[in-house]
Amino acid sequence: MPASPTDTRSRELFARAKQSLVGGVNSPVRAMRGIGRDPIFIDRAEGTRVFDVDGNVYVDYLASWGPAILGHAPPVVIDDLRDALARGTSYGAPTEREIVFAEAVRDAMPSIERLRMTSSGSEAVMGAVRLARAATGREVIVKTEGGYHGAIDGLLAQAGSGATTLGVPTSPGVTAGATAATRLVPYNDLAAAEVALEGAAAIILEPVAGNMGVVPPAPGYLEGLRAACDRTGALLILDEVITGFRVARGGAQERYGVKADLTCMGKIIGGGLPVGAFGGRADVMRELAPEGPCYQAGTLSGNPLATTAGLAVICRLAAEGTYEQLEENGARLEAIIRDSGAPVTVQRVGSMLTPFFTDSPVTNYADATACDTDAYARLARGLLANGVYPPPSQFEAWFTSTIHGDDEFRATEQAFARALEGMA
Ligand SMILES: Cc1ncc(COP(=O)(O)O)c(C=O)c1O
Repeated sequence: MPASPTDTRSRELFARAKQSLVGGVNSPVRAMRGIGRDPIFIDRAEGTRVFDVDGNVYVDYLASWGPAILGHAPPVVIDDLRDALARGTSYGAPTEREIVFAEAVRDAMPSIERLRMTSSGSEAVMGAVRLARAATGREVIVKTEGGYHGAIDGLLAQAGSGATTLGVPTSPGVTAGATAATRLVPYNDLAAAEVALEGAAAIILEPVAGNMGVVPPAPGYLEGLRAACDRTGALLILDEVITGFRVARGGAQERYGVKADLTCMGKIIGGGLPVGAFGGRADVMRELAPEGPCYQAGTLSGNPLATTAGLAVICRLAAEGTYEQLEENGARLEAIIRDSGAPVTVQRVGSMLTPFFTDSPVTNYADATACDTDAYARLARGLLANGVYPPPSQFEAWFTSTIHGDDEFRATEQAFARALEGMA
């Protein structure tokens, strides 16, 4: 398989990892099978760069799959974490910092009247879905095809099409029962969602899709879903695990002017530590234990280190001009990719984008899966060989941080030129 400039140590570690970790990794896409190569083992990350165990340096657009919006190891986070570490790593009891954290999230996202913290985005989604069912007394959850909401049974259903198709599990081990109340609709298809929402507890979707590559909502789509939910009594759950604090301080809800009943979050709000959260209307959240009967809990929920790191990031993101900077950096990367001559359609929302190997717009999962994934794999391998780290799959988002600048973009431009030369 094509390699990074030097990869002796990564190869050794991969061989060793496979003896004790399944597939050598702790999360499947990291194995880099999507781009036909072996994984690169990382030694450290700082600013816009990741450094591998063989001494190679990469301009990073993976951003740890989203959290590294200020770049890696930003001093504000590291300094606060140092202080927090000295006070202990976990108490299993409430802290003032959790209140400050919740207040900061509420301040950015007015639809969140009450919040519950978790240790991952998956857990946040699991809690929100259970709560939606408890609060409405209904069972069916509508989900968009190609939407990823974590490795939770009920939402691991993407097969099938049409508003009334019930979910078919996409993983062995997920029972038919677990997805029997999951109704699939194509992303950006308002008419299908309107039908599917009849009698449903909720619809859950990524307001800007990131897990089939970046697919923006069509004009009027989110507003239409809001109206359909109001008409049918179903709850609108926006999964802002990627978009929260990414596409605007108030997430996609601010960017598109739509209010969710429940919002799921993760990634950025943990500052690189394991975190998730869900929140929303006070009358719905009140159903949750200990106020209500709907059970949800977590040993490390509201963990002091994770809360500290997330709070440091959220506070820094409130600084004047941050989102203008993120927009500009995203636009610069987009321009580099477009001008490179790669035969791609670039889709971008703020500081998240995907170059799709197709010449037409990608509006849903069917469009995304029709792209030339082999070409993406060749491009990604070429970029890695030339010092740029893209997501190792066509169906993921590239992220720019607040601190990507001239150096990084110049290096990226050169890497694209060399990678495309190699592809030709
Ligand atoms: C939109 C979305 N929701 C939920 C999740 C699950 O989050 P976690 O991996 O923290 O469990 C992800 C993870 O990538 C995600 O992108």
